[in-house]
Amino acid sequence: MRLYSTITFLGWLSRGALAAMVKEGSTCTVTPESTNEKRAWPHGTPPIKARAEDPSINVLQSREPQFPGGGQRVDDTPSILSAFKECGQDGHIIIEEGDYMVRQIMDVPGLKNVHIDIYGHLEWSGDNIQYWLSNSLPVTYAARSTAWRIGGTNITMLGHGKALFFGNGQIWYDQNRDQSNQNGRPISLTLWYANDVFIDGITWRQSQFWNTFIAHSQNITMTNIDMNSTSASQWGTVNTDGTDTWNSRDVVLKNWTVTCGDDCISVKGNSTNISVSNATCYESGCMVIGSMGNPPSQAEYVDDVVFENVFCRHSSNAAWIKTYPGVGHVRNVTFRNIAFEDVNQPIYVSPCIYSGQNCDNSRIPITDITWQNITGTSRYNIGAGMYCSRSSPCQNFRFEDIDIRSKNGDDIKFLCSNIANQNSMGLQCTGPCPSNFPQQLNGNR
Ligand SMILES: *[C@@H]1O[C@H](CO)[C@@H](O)[C@H](O)[C@H]1NC(C)=O
Ligand SMILES: *[C@@H]1O[C@H](CO)[C@@H](O)[C@H](O)[C@H]1NC(C)=O
Ligand SMILES: *[C@@H]1O[C@H](CO)[C@@H](O)[C@H](O)[C@H]1NC(C)=O
Ligand SMILES: *[C@@H]1O[C@H](CO)[C@@H](O)[C@H](O)[C@H]1NC(C)=O
Ligand SMILES: *[C@@H]1O[C@H](CO)[C@@H](O)[C@H](O)[C@H]1NC(C)=O
Ligand SMILES: *[C@@H]1O[C@H](CO)[C@@H](O)[C@H](O)[C@H]1NC(C)=O
Ligand SMILES: *[C@@H]1O[C@H](CO)[C@@H](O)[C@H](O)[C@H]1NC(C)=O
Ligand SMILES: *[C@@H]1O[C@H](CO)[C@@H](O)[C@H](O)[C@H]1NC(C)=O
Ligand SMILES: *[C@@H]1O[C@H](CO)[C@@H](O)[C@H](O)[C@H]1NC(C)=O
Repeated sequence: MRLYSTITFLGWLSRGALAAMVKEGSTCTVTPESTNEKRAWPHGTPPIKARAEDPSINVLQSREPQFPGGGQRVDDTPSILSAFKECGQDGHIIIEEGDYMVRQIMDVPGLKNVHIDIYGHLEWSGDNIQYWLSNSLPVTYAARSTAWRIGGTNITMLGHGKALFFGNGQIWYDQNRDQSNQNGRPISLTLWYANDVFIDGITWRQSQFWNTFIAHSQNITMTNIDMNSTSASQWGTVNTDGTDTWNSRDVVLKNWTVTCGDDCISVKGNSTNISVSNATCYESGCMVIGSMGNPPSQAEYVDDVVFENVFCRHSSNAAWIKTYPGVGHVRNVTFRNIAFEDVNQPIYVSPCIYSGQNCDNSRIPITDITWQNITGTSRYNIGAGMYCSRSSPCQNFRFEDIDIRSKNGDDIKFLCSNIANQNSMGLQCTGPCPSNFPQQLNGNR
């Protein structure tokens, strides 16, 4: 094996080597293929053979995939993957400024003690939808899948406020035509069996599906996150959640700004010790527990969740809990300092979400839930619609400093059914809630 010094390596570079990924010690630096091509071959793309034989050492060069019609397109996936392979353990990965095209799935398990700096703009291809639909990586939950799985221990990923993940979502929204949960539509980034992760300063735009998913993971912190998926066509974005947690614990999410057209932050089954603070969500479901309890054969538990200092604007809901009639429990959840404006139905609790069927059979007791300092305007005249399963009534609900007004000045209603401590919970219920009360209303009730 031959070893090359930095000087040698710089020598290759100065001679115009194709350097999409350069390893130096334990640091892997990725630059865009497109830029390198222009730099190295100003008169066009070199033939693949010549590129494969490029002698530069430690420069892992990719072959571009062939596309129907014989054309070749830039694909930065191989360079990015080779950086994870070469420097993903006890290493440092730098994705330099520039535009990157990701045309393929990235499965990156087993990282360890890695520091990742991303300054570039990563774009996920939208001209090969069929490829993504058939190849996106499974994440078990409800047969969902993802474009990028990251796993391992002690992973820091810093976007420095510069990293941009662009999902070409408009193409996804238009072909999806408002269906719910299209199979194979990929989540942008999934933390998958990941522990001790810190992610900071990344911007997502036009995500393909959920922006992020935290699954089978522990001790995850994600701060200063900016997401916006907005459809410009007649079709909605649908399922572009900010994040969902599932089978995970010890998660801290702080200072997120999300526009997404679906759940902003959603805590799903088997999530424990989740803290969300300083989130601003537009056009979303805002702060959510669920959905969970499906399939009903598998228990799902949610424990110890705090949502605080949250602002929800023009959203379907603000502080809500939705389960299927399954088994498990929701216990010890606090919604604190939640402000909102023009929200369809601010507080909503349902044991039979979407179907409105079988509500009284749900065996997911919802207990020890606090809504504290909840202030804002409801689009119609409902402040809260809360129906609990008759076989597992809600217990120990607490309300403090609730100031919900109707946007149109109508008297506000709080509808409650099957809440064990209804008379001492700190909220004056104005009437019972129908079992099949919908998540979204289309007028006063
Ligand atoms: C975590 O990884 C960083 C490198 O990113 C390293 O400096 C640090 O020592 C690691 N921490 C542990 C506990 O191994
Ligand atoms: C949690 O992960 C962070 C890295 O994001 C690490 O610094 C910290 O030590 C971890 N905490 C525990 C309890 O392992
Ligand atoms: C919150 O995150 C945004 C990026 O979305 C950033 O610009 C801002 O500085 C962050 N605020 C704080 C207090 O860190
Ligand atoms: C999100 O993007 C849409 C479309 O570009 C824009 O109209 C909207 O203002 C953005 N949201 C935020 C919070 O910036
Ligand atoms: C909850 O998660 C935070 C952040 O990871 C951690 O510091 C804390 O120790 C966890 N609490 C419990 C009871 O595990
Ligand atoms: C969280 O919000 C508070 C109050 O709005 C602000 O003082 C603080 O800087 C924010 N922190 C972060 C990390 O965004
Ligand atoms: C949730 O955890 C319980 C036990 O802790 C397990 O039996 C169940 O299968 C898990 N549910 C899911 C959907 O993974
Ligand atoms: C409820 O959850 C909070 C936040 O995780 C935690 O600090 C508190 O100890 C939990 N309370 C109980 C009774 O477990
Ligand atoms: C209530 O929440 C609002 C934000 O929604 C915050 O500005 C205010 O300080 C909170 N009040 C208390 C008493 O914490």
